[in-house]
Amino acid sequence: MCGIIGFIGEKEAKNLLVEGLKRLEYRGYDSSGICVKNDLGLSIVKNLGKIDQLEKDSRLSSVRGKIGIAHTRWATHGEPSEVNAHPHCDCKNELAVVHNGIIENYSSLKKILEKEGHKFKSKTDSEVIAHLLEKFYKGNLAEALLKVLPLLEGTYGLAVIAEKSGEIVVAKKGSPLVLGIGNGDMFFASDQTALINHVNKIIYLNDNEIAVLRKDNFEIKNINGKNVNYEIEELKLGAESIEKNGFEHYMLKEIFEQPKSVKSALTGRLNKDGVKLSININLKKIERVILLGCGTSWHSALIGKYVIEELTNIPVEVDYASEFRYRNTPIRDSDLVVAISQSGETADTLAAIKKAKECNAKTIGIVNAVSSSIARECGTGIYLHAGPEIGVASTKAFTSQITALILLALYIRKERGMELDNDLLKEIASLPQKLILSLESCDEVEELAKKFKDSKNFIFLGRGFNFPIALEGALKLKEISYIHAEGYPSAEMKHGPIALIDENMPCLFICPHDHTYDKVLSNIEEVKARKGKIIAITDKTDDKLSSIADEIIYVPAVHPILSPLVNVIPLQLFAYFVANMKGLDVDKPRNLAKSVTVE
Ligand code: G6P
Repeated sequence: MCGIIGFIGEKEAKNLLVEGLKRLEYRGYDSSGICVKNDLGLSIVKNLGKIDQLEKDSRLSSVRGKIGIAHTRWATHGEPSEVNAHPHCDCKNELAVVHNGIIENYSSLKKILEKEGHKFKSKTDSEVIAHLLEKFYKGNLAEALLKVLPLLEGTYGLAVIAEKSGEIVVAKKGSPLVLGIGNGDMFFASDQTALINHVNKIIYLNDNEIAVLRKDNFEIKNINGKNVNYEIEELKLGAESIEKNGFEHYMLKEIFEQPKSVKSALTGRLNKDGVKLSININLKKIERVILLGCGTSWHSALIGKYVIEELTNIPVEVDYASEFRYRNTPIRDSDLVVAISQSGETADTLAAIKKAKECNAKTIGIVNAVSSSIARECGTGIYLHAGPEIGVASTKAFTSQITALILLALYIRKERGMELDNDLLKEIASLPQKLILSLESCDEVEELAKKFKDSKNFIFLGRGFNFPIALEGALKLKEISYIHAEGYPSAEMKHGPIALIDENMPCLFICPHDHTYDKVLSNIEEVKARKGKIIAITDKTDDKLSSIADEIIYVPAVHPILSPLVNVIPLQLFAYFVANMKGLDVDKPRNLAKSVTVE
């Protein structure tokens, strides 16, 4: 994971870099560091903890210079510590490197370098890059880097500066890197959000490319040192997209943004004739759909299975991208493989979609981050247009992913000449209003959180379209409040988790009045009989449920296919309030990162 940023120009680099790191903090936040060059040499400050620790470091006040690189870390090799934080230097402290990715062959490289007399300070894989550069650097950074890159196995978005050079050189393979072209200055970063307010023009570097940045010009070369063509794109995001807009946390802001983000996902795609998507693949003859994702995106894939099978009758498989990529599984050219990813950078999802392409399957992406690696690898698909999601726990991207999957199912249905249900189309169009109504549960959910915030365990149960919502509710609670929680299909509970139930076990049932309602009610009775605490999320009052549930939260009644969208909102709010009441860092939960660019 990790986030990197750099600046070269006529302004003081330090503040620009620290501000940029804050915007990249979602990528990792166990330690950070900055290196700025001036006429006296390189000044480096590193710090354990989040970026505000670095910002408060008194050593930063003496850091001056107009060329600099910086890094925020999510530890892979070597514990979080000041010495393991980036930038890393060569033996003479003349070169500094920041690196996002993993150098898989670092230990053999390190042994060779140590034999040659290089002294390592950290336990990281990244430090080998600095020592290899030292070995090859003869006054031209790009030339040295072109000699180092073929020796590295693994992934990198990296940047290097040197005491005696007026350039920054960056390289990319498998980890994202974007260049920002300013007026008389240049930036690079792991993600375009770090460049908002500074530049309007950006270039996404491709794998196996390096760029040499100077304050007023740049060159992009391939790994053989030949100049390559590139496309300059407009940076369309505004500052408002990365601000909290009065909310205490990004997560709460993003939960409340869902009516708007779902509306964006629908805009221009739903009309009176049905669904219009710009997918340039013929879906008429596909025989199977495989949905891939990780984390919350895997949960939306599970909902996608229920929806696509319901609406198209095509068999759908759902796989964790990390399992799919290494499993020997038959993939055919009649398969449609869909990569689902908020960030568009998750390493496993990217590798999984590459595998599907190699097997000649048709591939599409359901991605939020425009021009991200997964979006570009897929070549076609459905952008979520949810805007940047900054809270580490995914919320608005999840509901947008479900919306996109519903649109995809309807589109396949239409392509195959099957009739569309006008009532369902109308209901989909009214989804944003339904989500506003669901958000009205906020105050009651906050009260609920007060009652249950000290619980040590939780079980979330749902059926059909809402079984994945039980998984997602449990995941949200685990991620940000560190309470152990399990999600299960309601009926499966009696095959194991029922053994956990006693008077201390809260069980949250998602029970809309659909065709499974009576069955779920029986499952609630089974928990009640064992003295478990019952919390129900439902869509209308009902005497039977009222008599057995300890707590009920109401959401609007919707078509069963749409119910996951309205039901997940109280669960997101519940996790948010519990975590906040416990005084935890809601937006940056421990050990997690938002963009998982390592395996
Ligand atoms: C990380 C994040 C999750 C996210 C998952 C997949 O684990 O913390 O919130 O669901 O990665 O990320 P993606 O960007 O591919 O959706």
